Amino acid sequence: MSYFALIPAAGVGARMAAGCPKQYLPLLGKPMLRHTVDAFLGSSRIAHTYVVVSADDAYVAEALPADLAGVTVLRCGGATRMESIRNGLRQLATAIGQDDLVLVHDAARPGLTPALIGKLIDAVGDHEAGGLLALPVVDTVKSTRTGPVTTMARDGLWLAQTPQMFPYRLLLRALEEAPDPEAITDDASAVEMLGLSPLLVEGHPRNLKVTRPDDLRIAELFLKMDEQ
Ligand code: C5P
Repeated sequence: MSYFALIPAAGVGARMAAGCPKQYLPLLGKPMLRHTVDAFLGSSRIAHTYVVVSADDAYVAEALPADLAGVTVLRCGGATRMESIRNGLRQLATAIGQDDLVLVHDAARPGLTPALIGKLIDAVGDHEAGGLLALPVVDTVKSTRTGPVTTMARDGLWLAQTPQMFPYRLLLRALEEAPDPEAITDDASAVEMLGLSPLLVEGHPRNLKVTRPDDLRIAELFLKMDEQ
């Protein structure tokens, strides 16, 4: 059994409102996507890394040079994150075995480390429903969903991160059969809709998803710590 990384990187980064998709913004002089890919290239557990970009992507060739070993770019991005991942999985039908494990990881989480990848792989083991990195909620959570403000009990609440790791066959089935693709904001929720319960493995704040401009500085602080 082998482990493969699949990085969806076909978003436009609307909330970042930068001149280019956020995954190509420089962090410490290197495109964000390159930091993300380097975490997988630095892990001895990963057999190969696939990156899904949009068909007309004009930036990836510079971020990931063609001679970079261990990475393949797939130009099959879709309109949503879920579609990008599903398209990538379909394209890899002969490259990845049905029972091999796929680690889906957002390009916009450049703070991932080989140690966190190894922690996820070791903790999930051969659990049939796979698993994901997540952080226990530390703040008090308020809800306005039903009108007046209410406070939710925070114990047992987690914030999902990536990588999220599942057997190839299970992940593709979950994404193909998802009843409401709009409601799918991560891969684990598609697997949960099949009645399965992925394992939660404690991640790390450094693995934040870069979403807004201030997040760039926070991500750089974590990356700088590695250089010291
Ligand atoms: O926009 P957001 O931060 O939620 O995107 C999460 C990840 O999904 C990013 O790495 C982004 O590039 C990717 N994505 C994608 N295809 C889309 C939308 C987002 O691969 N259509």
